[in-house]
Amino acid sequence: MKNKILVTGGTGYIGSHTVVELQETGYDVVIVDNLSNSGIDVLDNIKKITGIKPEFEKFDLADQRKTDEFFGRHKDIKAIIHFAASKAVGESVEKPLLYYRNNLVSLMNILECHIKYNIPNIVFSSSCTVYGQPDQLPVTEKTPRKDAESPYGNTKRVNEDILQDTIAANSEIRGIALRYFNPIGAHSSALIGELPLGVPQNLVPFVTQTAAGIREQLSVFGDDYNTRDGSAIRDYINVVDLAKAHVVAIDRLLKGKNKLNYEIFNLGTGDGLSVLEIVKSFEKATNIKLNYKIVGRRAGDIEQIWADTTYANEELGWKAEKELDETLLSAWNWEKNIRGIQ
Ligand code: UD1
Repeated sequence: MKNKILVTGGTGYIGSHTVVELQETGYDVVIVDNLSNSGIDVLDNIKKITGIKPEFEKFDLADQRKTDEFFGRHKDIKAIIHFAASKAVGESVEKPLLYYRNNLVSLMNILECHIKYNIPNIVFSSSCTVYGQPDQLPVTEKTPRKDAESPYGNTKRVNEDILQDTIAANSEIRGIALRYFNPIGAHSSALIGELPLGVPQNLVPFVTQTAAGIREQLSVFGDDYNTRDGSAIRDYINVVDLAKAHVVAIDRLLKGKNKLNYEIFNLGTGDGLSVLEIVKSFEKATNIKLNYKIVGRRAGDIEQIWADTTYANEELGWKAEKELDETLLSAWNWEKNIRGIQ
């Protein structure tokens, strides 16, 4: 019998790609999502890719009664991958309570059900945002975390603590926190991808929307950073590579290969790239000239960060494999598909 995995936020950007990889590896998936930032049609698109429409329930995991009732009906779940969360940094500054409620309460509700219904395994979506601007680069999992720059960032940090403390007190639960660097790109089928609501805040969706003519001009936030070309540096990781790391993490937990009950892994490529390098690479990969201009720095941005991926490479046996050109092209193919561009 197939092992059943609950993917919360499974119709979202990283969640949907992870569902595809789980199904293709032979896992059964049930998705819970409140569809606050994704559409139900994602399920049909997952089916087009894998041949299997995942089981789906729509409700909000911050609702304790509904969450408990769900687990009461699904006693065969072997592990949870918890993606469901609000993720807009700017919005979190304006609506901190919304972010604390959505992100913290949902994890607490889930962990209570882990204990009550004996669900032994959890993988949690964390972020490199917990490192702030690190004193040393690249960052390893042992690099000290810093105070968060936003309520969103703080929810990631506090949720890591909630998970760690709960696992320390409940030795039957094992968890892995995955700290994502900057996920970009889309599935090679162009059937699933990132669908930002309104004006994109993240770089690559803004780039593809500019290329599609939806945005007039890309603003490059700052060229006066202490980097090789003055623009800020990040570690951009292909979302399919990232999704595959979740399957590896689930395998590790289900096979009991974890070394500690609570483990943390950085998920990046290990390479830092500047905003201008992304712009140039996009132009080269797609043969499209991007209309961009340099503007001032964006409040709250850090100068540079990239991952030391040694621990994930050696311990998980996972490595980001996709080339940047292919990744940027996949983002563009997705944008073309949803806009009906030939
Ligand atoms: C942002 C969040 C981070 C979150 C991640 C989720 C901030 C400060 N950080 O990361 O907490 O986990 O998204 O995906 O918001 N850029 C431009 N022009 C644009 C958009 C972005 O120049 O129109 C630049 C940014 O200044 C940054 C780089 O591109 O240097 C990447 O930006 P973005 O994609 O928003 O990711 P982060 O800021 O790294």
